[in-house]
Amino acid sequence: MIRIKHIAHLLLFSVLTVQVAAQSIRKEYLLDKNWKFKQGDYPDAVESRFNDLKWKTVSVPHDWAIKGPFDGNNDLQKVRIEQNLEKEASVKSGRTGGLPFVGTGWYRLKFMVPGFLPGKKAVLLFDGAMSNARVYVNGKEAGFWPYGYNSFHLDVTSLLNPAGEVNTLAVRLENFSQSSRWYPGAGIYRNVHLFVTEDVHIPVWGTYLTTPVINKEFAKVNLKTKVEAPAGKAADLRLETEIRDARETVVASFTSNLKEFDDLEFEQNLVVKNPFLWSPETPVLYTAVSRLYEGKTLKDEYKTRFGIRSIKYEAAKGFSLNGEIRKFKGVCNHHDLGPLGTAVNTAALRHQLTLLKDMGCDAIRTSHNMPAPELVALCDEMGFMMMVESFDEWKTPKVKNGYSQYFDEWAEKDLVNMIHRDRNSPSVVMWSIGNEVPDQSAEGGNKIAKRLQDICHREDPTRPVTVGMDRINDALTKNFAAVLDIPGFNYKPTWYERANNALPQGFILGTETASTVSSRGVYKFPVGFQKMKQYDDNQSSSYDFEYCNWSQVPDDEFVKQDDLPFVIGEFVWTGFDYLGEPTPYDSKWPSHSSYFGIIDLASIPKDRFYLYRSKWNTSKPTLHILPHWTWPGREGEITPVFCYTNYPSAELFVNGKSMGRQSKSNTNNQTRYRLMWNDVKYEPGVIKVVAYDKDGKAVASEEVKTAGKPHHIELSANRTEIIADGKDLAYITAKVCDAEGNLCPQATNLLQFKVKGDGRHKAAANGDATSLELFHHPQMHVFKGMLTEIVQSSEKSGAMQLTVKSKGLKSGTLTIRTIK
Ligand code: GAL
Repeated sequence: MIRIKHIAHLLLFSVLTVQVAAQSIRKEYLLDKNWKFKQGDYPDAVESRFNDLKWKTVSVPHDWAIKGPFDGNNDLQKVRIEQNLEKEASVKSGRTGGLPFVGTGWYRLKFMVPGFLPGKKAVLLFDGAMSNARVYVNGKEAGFWPYGYNSFHLDVTSLLNPAGEVNTLAVRLENFSQSSRWYPGAGIYRNVHLFVTEDVHIPVWGTYLTTPVINKEFAKVNLKTKVEAPAGKAADLRLETEIRDARETVVASFTSNLKEFDDLEFEQNLVVKNPFLWSPETPVLYTAVSRLYEGKTLKDEYKTRFGIRSIKYEAAKGFSLNGEIRKFKGVCNHHDLGPLGTAVNTAALRHQLTLLKDMGCDAIRTSHNMPAPELVALCDEMGFMMMVESFDEWKTPKVKNGYSQYFDEWAEKDLVNMIHRDRNSPSVVMWSIGNEVPDQSAEGGNKIAKRLQDICHREDPTRPVTVGMDRINDALTKNFAAVLDIPGFNYKPTWYERANNALPQGFILGTETASTVSSRGVYKFPVGFQKMKQYDDNQSSSYDFEYCNWSQVPDDEFVKQDDLPFVIGEFVWTGFDYLGEPTPYDSKWPSHSSYFGIIDLASIPKDRFYLYRSKWNTSKPTLHILPHWTWPGREGEITPVFCYTNYPSAELFVNGKSMGRQSKSNTNNQTRYRLMWNDVKYEPGVIKVVAYDKDGKAVASEEVKTAGKPHHIELSANRTEIIADGKDLAYITAKVCDAEGNLCPQATNLLQFKVKGDGRHKAAANGDATSLELFHHPQMHVFKGMLTEIVQSSEKSGAMQLTVKSKGLKSGTLTIRTIK
């Protein structure tokens, strides 16, 4: 009895949330709170009467493995990684992050649906569940979806109890060992929605909007809208569509009736006059609001957000957006959010994109799987072009229990869902059907490529298709690359000319580039190029000269991007460090997160950030020097100083003494993009660069000082006001500084976090790939003097105070306001 009361209360609450978000007639329930969860297998948990009182109460999105503990034996793999050109198998300890994602877990939710009255339809939409999801409603199986990255929906009309009765939703998930090359996460890590509609309605992802004609004066908008209706009900259906601009002003409208021969799909053409075009620089969005009537009765209202923009990929010219040629300044990213794991969070994604925007990045590749819908929505809003990717393997496996086992049965269904969900988003400018698939070498691999590409064309003729290819010989000689709309190559800058000559398309994309490795704040001496270099501390140098057997340093790709007009851009591996794949330390526990990121796992930029920024962000000046200048014991030793800048030249001063002026030059690939003083000898004090413009005028300067003893903690937040929705986040950078405020770049202090008021400590990270400290604990050591503390709002508006303490240091405090 008590339990039921509790449920009814819950329900009221969710109805309340729904009313804010809901459109007038269809109801959308976000199933995010009060789930019960338990790891292990509990087949009886499908039954409504099953007792889950002792299970943990969790919110969804939820990642069951992110709280660890880390252990090199979690998903330990003795493998030879073929695409890394390894000759022999070796034991890989941190390949999937050393986190306990393998195994089975169950989720259960009790809920009532007040809007589910007789004659209504109900659909469950999972944005993604990791993995092998089996969904049960009131004891009956509603559906199965194996691929953990995809969105899927299930019609549960016949399974759901009517309004006023309690329902039980149970979800069984199972992750296999050796099923991934990185940390996949575990659990219902994306949102779950329930839609209740009339019998006559527009189904999930039921619209397809294109803009076939765009010019200055007008844009033609073509909107196809599917309708589902009981037999015989389609006779008198009418669709009224309004297009609203960003200010909600109606700029076009059109009404049409469904004819018998229309096959339950409306097709409407509208004209938007003087359209504002979408681009990364001007991410202007419109919304088509469609109202579906049966006779005089409103049956559904459906919103399709879109942008007006044209894309072209042409031989010799390359890629153009809205008629202007440009090259992709892109990054590849995995789906995990570092210390938050894979549980999707809009504030975390927005924070990532904000940093990337500042770097001048304009494109994201969702390697190697379909993204969270929140990421696509943010790319639409903030202005990023997207390569939405589907698979890391086809028929031939890369990992023993990977997608290859599902490929034959599921590939088409997975592609269809991916495309139907995201094809109205202006940010999406190409689909990728695969990454480094071994089928490049297999007999008939090109036929698979053709088949998958044809599916994409069938579902969306407006966007081209690519594959990230690594096996260049096979890709070129087995007619694989030639089949694709966009030939995409991973780590092949030295092949671009040959490949382009051998291929019919007339342009080439760097689908994956660089894979330079570095640890933030770590510098190794002597400075020089290093391939797969390992050091005793399991770190890599931030002089940005270290790379892998198959990869390059950034400048080697820049040269090709700048010199070859037919190369249409690059997607750097990776924007952010991610959990798992700790190359070059795959076999050296405790490394368990990547070194590839331009930005580290704690969302703190590495030096490389400024190298890319100096090239990509053409609207803001960049002037950055490295390394830090606190090297007790290195006095008199060669300690090169690099400057990443978009000024053409700069002069370095060490304690006021000029080390000469350096200008960018074509001497080699590095001197084109970096200013380097290679012979500087370390002496404590100040290093300073003065930058000169093209006329030789001193215009900016930057300096780094030798730090004294750790003295206090300095805090700075990415946002000081966040939304009181229990989800929003603020990222706070904590720095250990000396008395004068200089960062202590060698500090290792243990910091403790306390949050009072309307919020809580959510997670922390220090960017050290070898750290086994747990992200959710309210304490952590700084790495190279820094870490990131993430706090989360409660549902109460007000304020929270964060205090960060450490023995022997003056504490730092900061207030974050939370608003409704
Ligand atoms: C590529 C692969 C990526 C990642 C990267 C590391 O070959 O596509 O997923 O493994 O190498 O350099």
